[in-house]
Amino acid sequence: MRIAVLGANGPTGRHLTDQALAGGHEVVAVTRRPGSLTPRPGLAVAVADATDQAAVEAAIDGADAVLSTVGTTFGKQTVTTYSASATVVTAAMARRGVGRLLVVSSNMMDPHWRPTGAHFFNHVLDPLVARRLGRTLHADMRRMEDVIRGTDLDWTLVRPSGLFDHPVVTDYLTSETSADGVFTARADLAAAMLRELEEGRYVRTAMGVVTTAVKPNVVKLIWNEGVKKK
Ligand SMILES: NC(=O)c1ccc[n+]([C@@H]2O[C@H](COP(=O)([O-])OP(=O)(O)OC[C@H]3O[C@@H](n4cnc5c(N)ncnc54)[C@H](OP(=O)(O)O)[C@@H]3O)[C@@H](O)[C@H]2O)c1
Repeated sequence: MRIAVLGANGPTGRHLTDQALAGGHEVVAVTRRPGSLTPRPGLAVAVADATDQAAVEAAIDGADAVLSTVGTTFGKQTVTTYSASATVVTAAMARRGVGRLLVVSSNMMDPHWRPTGAHFFNHVLDPLVARRLGRTLHADMRRMEDVIRGTDLDWTLVRPSGLFDHPVVTDYLTSETSADGVFTARADLAAAMLRELEEGRYVRTAMGVVTTAVKPNVVKLIWNEGVKKK
């Protein structure tokens, strides 16, 4: 397949690009920062902002599917990245006749998501930190999901939990609407997206993804995701 990966130079996007190439797919890496992408057979690079209609349309032309890992960090400011890129990408796909879309969202989009046994997360971290600090980001993710649900495309909303870095694909669980677990390794998120592209088990619905085999070091996670990324 020829796959357009949006956010290809981001932490999940790089796993997705590497795994897709290793799986024999052609990849169009769509990014604002092409500099550090290593040229490889099967890889084409398209420089585009995901909210630029003409650039996105040109980048996804001829693709069989679009996989988006576009995202931004949370803060007090209003966030529009998710909904704006979803609006542009879905319109571009409709115009160019590309039917299959997988977009990374979050398990937080399921209001009933409460990971089993995760008392500290459910009662302290989630209400006090994630939902408060992530309020504007999650509001825009919700708008993104609404935009995508309103299209005729074959979409899948891919919902991970807290992302962490692990070098290889491990064991992970997928489940409709959301998945029961606090963490998702980026390598597993990428693997789950590529598997869903092949299998089509969650077309026009949401797929939760959580890692079951390994757990992150929480102090390192808070440093990497909350401090270093800012
Ligand atoms: N962190 C978590 O715990 C968590 C939990 C659930 C879901 N998620 C979601 O998972 C996804 C992947 O997260 P991640 O941490 O691996 O990646 P990330 O750090 O959020 O980066 C995603 C990529 O999006 C790109 N991007 C942002 N705005 C763009 C725009 N206007 N045009 C083109 N590209 C744009 C960035 O490109 P540049 O490199 O050009 O800036 C970056 O490469 C995101 O959607 C995130 O919201 C994260």
